[in-house]
Amino acid sequence: MSNVKFMSGENIPLEMHKVRMVQKVNLIPVEDRLVAMKKAGFNTFLLQNRDVFMDMLTDSGVNAMSQNQYAAMMQADDSYAGSETYYRLEAVLKDIFGMEYFLPAHQGRACENIIAQTLVKPGQVTVMNYHFTTTKAHITLNGGTVEEILTDDGLKIQSDLPFKGDLDIDKLKESIKRNGKENIAFVRIEAGTNLIGGQPVSMGNMREVSKICRAEGIKLVYDASLLGDNLYFIKVRDAAYKNTDIKAITREIATLMDVVYFSARKLGSARGGGILCSDEKLFLKMRELIPLYEGFLTYGGMSVREMEALAVGLQETMDFDVINQTPIIVEALCNELLKNGIPVVTPPGGLGCHVDAMEFCKHIPQTEYPAGALAASVYIASGVRCMERGTMSEQRNEDGSERLGEMELARIAVPRRVFTLSQVKYTADRINWLYQNRSIIGGLKFVEEPKVLRFFFGRLEPIGDWPQKLATKFREDFGESL
Ligand code: F0G
Repeated sequence: MSNVKFMSGENIPLEMHKVRMVQKVNLIPVEDRLVAMKKAGFNTFLLQNRDVFMDMLTDSGVNAMSQNQYAAMMQADDSYAGSETYYRLEAVLKDIFGMEYFLPAHQGRACENIIAQTLVKPGQVTVMNYHFTTTKAHITLNGGTVEEILTDDGLKIQSDLPFKGDLDIDKLKESIKRNGKENIAFVRIEAGTNLIGGQPVSMGNMREVSKICRAEGIKLVYDASLLGDNLYFIKVRDAAYKNTDIKAITREIATLMDVVYFSARKLGSARGGGILCSDEKLFLKMRELIPLYEGFLTYGGMSVREMEALAVGLQETMDFDVINQTPIIVEALCNELLKNGIPVVTPPGGLGCHVDAMEFCKHIPQTEYPAGALAASVYIASGVRCMERGTMSEQRNEDGSERLGEMELARIAVPRRVFTLSQVKYTADRINWLYQNRSIIGGLKFVEEPKVLRFFFGRLEPIGDWPQKLATKFREDFGESL
């Protein structure tokens, strides 16, 4: 799609697929959206989908599948042990990654549980470009800590650095020296670094990190959940890989890693997960935990139908015209917002458009969750459901004080091949309106706050009656419009 020029000179994302199965969606009036948001405790996770127009909460498990994926689901071999489906999936994974062993798991965080239980000893450090919520939870549950070593630019909201997910090599060396290599459980690289705005990691950086880890005898773990987006960015942002095919890039990445794991809710556009490695001893150690937490070794908590869809989805991930769809739509959405001066993470990453709530809602202190308030406001203004990625997504410190997020982002995820350009334009239009009315938005406070991963189930209430004011202003400005 990037190769298609329009005579008008406009840069318009062109979908390289056609829609042959649809799901009707509803856009309820703003008054009803306000009621739904209140009922959901101002937490977009607690909205009912029947009240949501465009579900842009996440790309996880909600990507559009291809006709070949659906067709493959019909040929699944449903057996507890020794299923043909498992062997088909294993063969595809070995072919793509070139690694020796595969362990199935029911989703990405299940892989993180197995890896953390196997590799993290109490008191040990894990060093990574940036944490993901579930990754950190599993590491800390096993007595480990997380040290983040992004380059300083990684956390800058606006930048023109093409690979903001890169690890800082000096910080890595310093960390190994300070902690001692025996106290480092593993180094982790997250592809398409989620919480900093879906930012990719460069091949050169992975190569350097791998070299250091191998020299020191430290295991290198790769979270490939967002590999599809990262592959796209290597191809388009690193001139050295312009003519390299996607599968060759994938293989090269895999040769640098000791363990590769993924959420198949993202990678391969199916549902499930898996761990790959080449070290037999490590494989056998992790394997012990699979029947305990996941299921028998030839399904690992996945349905065989999903495994068949995954095998096809992984092969389709090796097609540039498949993986470029989301990053190009993300870029289009970011550009629509930037045109109106709305602060978003740049360069646009994969996964979704990330609005900088700290800047958008400058008047809301971080302790009143500006990104959470913005996510709730986006829903009231548009029926679009997005996600808070900021202080609410952090865990409190041991002493109960808030751990303030390094960024306050409202993430508008772009599930793969689900929404059309007009729907994306609608989203931008409503966020532009919201930006003009941003002074109305106020803060939130928890009224029910779970101890672990509080953003999933926590309930909040607004500080003041700003949601009502926002809905009233919407009605004034849009008249009868939904
Ligand atoms: N690693 C990364 C980088 C992720 O983005 C996710 C999930 C996981 C691991 C865990 O995988 O959900 O299959 O257990 N991210 C989703 C999101 C939840 O919305 O960004 P999972």
